Amino acid sequence: MGLLSHFILGLVVAVLVAYFMSIKKNGGSSVVSDIKKEYDYIIVGGGSAGAVLASRLSEKDDVTILLLEAGGEETENPLYHVPAGCFVLQKTEADWGYYTEPQKFSHFGLKGNRSYWPRGKVLGGTSILNCMVYNRGSRYDYDNWASQGCTGWAYDDVLSYFLKSEDILIPTLKDSKFHNTGGYLGVSHARVTPFVDYYLKAAKELGFKIVDYNGEEFEGFGETQFTIRNGERSSTSKAFLRPVMHRQNLQVSSHSSVVKVIIEKQVAVGVEMVRGGRKYQIYASKEVILSAGAIGSPQILMLSGIGPKPHLDELGIPVIADLPVGENLQDHLMFGVTTGINITGSFTENAVSSWWTYVQYFLFGTGYLSSSFLEVVAHVQTERDKEFKSAPDIQLFFLSGVPNKDLIGLRDDVKNETRSKLPDEGLHGIVGLLHPKSRGTIRLRSRNPFDPPIIDPNYLAEEDDVKTFIRGFRVMEKYLATKTMQKIGVTLDLLNFKLCGGHEFLSDVFVECLIRHNAVTMYHPTSTYKMGSPKDPSTVVDPQLRVKGIGKLRVVDASVMPDVTSGNTNAPTIMIAEKAADMILER
Ligand SMILES: Cc1cc2nc3c(=O)[nH]c(=O)nc-3n(C[C@H](O)[C@H](O)[C@H](O)COP(=O)(O)OP(=O)(O)OC[C@H]3O[C@@H](n4cnc5c(N)ncnc54)[C@H](O)[C@@H]3O)c2cc1C
Ligand SMILES: *[C@@H]1O[C@H](CO)[C@@H](O)[C@H](O)[C@H]1NC(C)=O
Ligand SMILES: *[C@@H]1O[C@H](CO)[C@@H](O)[C@H](O)[C@H]1NC(C)=O
Ligand SMILES: *[C@@H]1O[C@H](CO)[C@@H](O)[C@H](O)[C@H]1NC(C)=O
Repeated sequence: MGLLSHFILGLVVAVLVAYFMSIKKNGGSSVVSDIKKEYDYIIVGGGSAGAVLASRLSEKDDVTILLLEAGGEETENPLYHVPAGCFVLQKTEADWGYYTEPQKFSHFGLKGNRSYWPRGKVLGGTSILNCMVYNRGSRYDYDNWASQGCTGWAYDDVLSYFLKSEDILIPTLKDSKFHNTGGYLGVSHARVTPFVDYYLKAAKELGFKIVDYNGEEFEGFGETQFTIRNGERSSTSKAFLRPVMHRQNLQVSSHSSVVKVIIEKQVAVGVEMVRGGRKYQIYASKEVILSAGAIGSPQILMLSGIGPKPHLDELGIPVIADLPVGENLQDHLMFGVTTGINITGSFTENAVSSWWTYVQYFLFGTGYLSSSFLEVVAHVQTERDKEFKSAPDIQLFFLSGVPNKDLIGLRDDVKNETRSKLPDEGLHGIVGLLHPKSRGTIRLRSRNPFDPPIIDPNYLAEEDDVKTFIRGFRVMEKYLATKTMQKIGVTLDLLNFKLCGGHEFLSDVFVECLIRHNAVTMYHPTSTYKMGSPKDPSTVVDPQLRVKGIGKLRVVDASVMPDVTSGNTNAPTIMIAEKAADMILER
C-alpha cells in the first residue's frame, strides 16, 4: 500500500471529528436556490479572491451581492479543513482536474508530456486544495508592478491590505509592524517534525540569514508560515465567508456555472449561468466581477467576446473587445530531490496512520494531520538581476517526508524506477523557478463553455530559465552537502536516474536533463489578463482592475498580476481582493 492509501485511511477517522468541529462552527447560511433577477454586484467564482470579495462587499449593507460558484460548498466534506488533506484532494469532485498540452521543452518524464493542473472547484476555490504556505512575495514584486504602470500597487501601497486580512498566531511576530492580529485569516507555524532545527542549522552553516520572510527581509531561510488556525485550514470560504453568511444582502449560489458575461453596448449588464441543467440570466445594476481564477476567468472572457481577435474569429465568436486575454501565462516550475535520512520523525506511512496521530489531532489540533510538511522555505538570489532589482530568482522548500510520485503523473517506467528506490524515512528538497522568462497561453478549445480550455505554459522555452534552474539546483546541492545534512545521512544517490544516464552524473547537462524530464508545476498560474496602464497594448485591465473598453466589468483574481510574485500566490490573491473591495466601494 502506498502512502496515499494510508493517508486516506487515516483521514477517514479525521473526517469524523473534523465533521463535528465544522458543524459547530458554521454560522447561518445564505446559500440560496431562488435567485433574484437582479443584484447590485455579481461575483463569479468563490475562490481565494471571490470569497474575500463577497465578504468585504457585503459589509456595506445597502448593496446586494450574488456570489456564483461552479462547485459545491466546503462544508460538505470535513477533509477540506484538515491540513494534511492537501495531498489527497486532487482528482476529487473539488478539483477541475486540468491537463496542460504536451510540452515541447519539458515534461519528458511525464505521461504524454503533460502536467496535471489541479484547481479548486468548491467554495473557497484553490484555497481548499492548496498547501497553505503563507507567502506575500518580495517587496520588489509590487514595486515592479507599479513601475510597469500599476499605479497604487507598490509594496508600500499594498502592505496595509496584507495586514488587513491577517490574524498572526505566531507569538514572536505579534508585535512586528509587518503583521497584524484580529483579521479573518489565521496564520501560524505548523512544525511537526524535529527537522526544522536541522534545516535552519544547515542554512546558517552556508551563511544564509534566518528571516521572517513576510517581514523586513524576504531573502534567506525561514520557518514556513501557513494559513492554518488551530490545526484547521484557513480557506477563504471558512475564514472570510462563513462568518458573514447570515448577511441579508449576500446570496451565494453553488453548482452554478457562468458561461458568459452579457454585454450590451460595451457595458456588462449581467451573466448567463447554468445550474441543474437550466440556463439563467441574472442582471447586475452596478458591476459584474470575474473571480473565476487563472483558467476560469480567461475562458469566460473569451466566450463573452473579449480576447485576441484572430483567436475569437477562428471560433466564430463576435469580438466585443480585442484584448490579449490568455497571453502572458506564467507559472512557477519546481524540481524535487528526494533523499533518505538516518534520523526518524519524518512524515511516513506509520507516523500518519498511528492512533497517536489521530488522538493528537482531535484533541489538540496538532501532529502529522495538522501540517502540509513544507516546514522550511528559502528565497535565494542566484544572480543579481537588474530587471528584477533584488527579487530572488529561486525558492527552496524542505518537505519533511517522501512525497507520493503518483501525484505528478510520471511515465510508468520513470515511476517504476523511482518507486523501487524510495526510502521510508526521508526528506524532499524542492527547487522552484520564481521568475520564468518563458510565456505561455490559455486558449478556448471550442465555443462549448464546458470544454476545458487549451493550457500551454510553454515551460522552459527560454534557455535562461534552464540556466537559472541549474543555479538553483547548485544551491540545493551545496545545502545538502553541509555538515548538518550529511550528519543525518543525506545523499543525492536517488537522482541517478537511468533516463539521464547518458550524461555525467550531476554535470550541468545531466541536471538540465533531469529538469526537462521531471520538473512540474508549482501550481501558481497567473498573469493572463495583466493589469497595467490602459495605454499599454499588453494589458487587459487597468489599475482599478476594470476591463479596458468595457463598462462595469472587473476581473479580480490571481491572473491580474502583471508578473507572478516571488513566492506562493494565495496571499497575494487575497490581498488583490481586499484592495479591489475598497476600490469597488470607493472606500
Ligand atoms: C495543489 C496546489 C497547491 C498550492 N499551494 C499553495 C500554497 O501552499 N500557498 C499559496 O500561496 N498558493 C498555493 N497554491 C496556489 C493558490 O492556491 C492559487 O494561486 C489561488 O488559490 C488562486 O486564487 P484565485 O482566486 O485566482 O482562483 P481560485 O481560488 O481557483 O478560484 C476560482 C473559483 O472560481 C470558480 N469558477 C471557475 N470557473 C467558474 C465558472 N465558469 N462559473 C462559476 N464559478 C467558476 C472555481 O470553481 C473556483 O472556486 C496552490 C495551488 C494548488 C493547486
Ligand atoms: C514527448 O517528448 C519526447 C521528447 O521530445 C518526444 O519524443 C515524444 O514524442 C513526446 N510525446 C508527446 C506525446 O508529445
Ligand atoms: C511498471 O511496474 C508495473 C508493476 O510492477 C508493471 O506492471 C509495468 O509493466 C512496469 N512498467 C514499465 C514501463 O516498466
Ligand atoms: C548517519 O549517516 C551519517 C553519514 O553516513 C553518519 O555520519 C552518521 O553517524 C549517521 N547517524 C546515525 C544516527 O546513524
